[in-house]
Amino acid sequence: MTWIYHNGEFKSRDTIHVDIEDRGYQFGDGIYEVFRIYDQQLFEVDAHLQRLERSANEIKMHLPVSRDTLARDMHELVQRNDILNGIVYLQVTRGVAARYHGFPSSDVPTQMVAYVKNMPRPTEDMQQGVNAILIDDSRWLRCDIKSLNLLGNVLAKQTASEHGAFEAIQHRDGTVTEGSSSNVFMIQNGKVYTHPATNLILNGITRLKVLKLCQQLQLEVYEKSFSTEEILDADEVFITSTTSEIMPIKRVNDQDIGPGIPGPLTVKLQEAFEKEIQAV
Ligand code: PDD
Repeated sequence: MTWIYHNGEFKSRDTIHVDIEDRGYQFGDGIYEVFRIYDQQLFEVDAHLQRLERSANEIKMHLPVSRDTLARDMHELVQRNDILNGIVYLQVTRGVAARYHGFPSSDVPTQMVAYVKNMPRPTEDMQQGVNAILIDDSRWLRCDIKSLNLLGNVLAKQTASEHGAFEAIQHRDGTVTEGSSSNVFMIQNGKVYTHPATNLILNGITRLKVLKLCQQLQLEVYEKSFSTEEILDADEVFITSTTSEIMPIKRVNDQDIGPGIPGPLTVKLQEAFEKEIQAV
């Protein structure tokens, strides 16, 4: 049986239904997290839960459970479903209420749902690298919140798919921000660059891990934005996310990055990341 987490309880899949007036469904009024499961263990669970709490605060939503309780429940969900490698998807909406844009009264409970999905690590793509396109960033100005409102990201990813690309790298007036569902790094002359953690990007948990690994490997790393011209001229480019880990980008807009294969520093970071996973 597939177990789903619903407002603090574990239930079977067919007993859970979404109300037509759930604010997540009607307004995208909610937040979410995607956690990685490696070998039946949750990776960086505290960092994800901290970010969930931050997202909740930023949209003035109160989480009804503590971080510790949620961590324990997410572990239980993984154990119950007997998942080896995959993800946990957790979302919290502002609850069910008659449709009106302003918040419902504070006694309306939030709706929390989490489920697991089998997902092997994308090892082949990580070895070979993938392609990306550049696209205008058409999203709102609070991309730091992991909000359910993902229409800009959805349209960007769809455009990438239509161009046969793995990811759409977004930019605002020529300044690269992030991918449709990932952060973007560039390496030039041995120096690693990524957009600073402002309101224009989601501060990825994988991004933070890579910044730490750069320091451990004594790579020069800068949280400094770069342009679309610079990325096309980079020695190496990679994206990071919970599901894609450290994914080399070998072509952007049909132009090879470096020699068009995963670069040496990207591979070094991938190896260091792999050790982190094994340490879980
Ligand atoms: N996406 N930026 C955006 C817009 C994202 O949606 C994501 C993650 C990231 C990377 O964050 P992290 O390293 O914490 O996964 C950056 C998740 C995986 C998703 O929506 O499926």
